[in-house]
Amino acid sequence: MQKSYVMIKPEFASYDAVIEEVKRRLENEGIEILEERFVKYDKASADKHYAEHVGKDFYPKLLEYITSDKAYGMIVEGENAIEKIRALAGSTKNPEKGTIRYDIPLALGIERRITQNVVHSSDSEESAKREIEIFSSLPDYQDENQNS
Ligand code: GTP
Ligand code: MG
Repeated sequence: MQKSYVMIKPEFASYDAVIEEVKRRLENEGIEILEERFVKYDKASADKHYAEHVGKDFYPKLLEYITSDKAYGMIVEGENAIEKIRALAGSTKNPEKGTIRYDIPLALGIERRITQNVVHSSDSEESAKREIEIFSSLPDYQDENQNS
């Protein structure tokens, strides 16, 4: 059994139907969702999550996207989970039909873009461990427009 971290990114995390569809695809592959909630990444947590990309030319745009709104984080577990979920998500630059990154923007009528893609998933057991720790350190998302 292997753990992974899956995150529905801002923009897409605001659609309940997207969350349901991503979960359905995970569960169809025998992946169990252990924990799930809305969080909001701030700069410090995004810099940790995407440490390998800090300083790259696309990073400012990626940081802006990831910190722009709530995201939906999930700690998941299953046989060969990391590879299975990467296949479900599809490639970064040219996802194939049938993958989350291809199908969901199409279904929503949103243009498919490299930076503002639908979903993150861990690429190794080490990344999963690190990303789960960062997720677990984030407070629950609070709607900033909500009256207290
Ligand atoms: P994540 O699941 O978000 O980590 O995506 P990934 O594992 O498919 O890709 P990677 O970790 O290499 O890159 C992280 C994120 O940076 C991607 O999801 C994209 O948003 C962005 N990114 C990576 N490479 C490029 C690039 O060449 N151009 C642009 N514009 N964005 C990129
Ligand atoms: Mg990655």
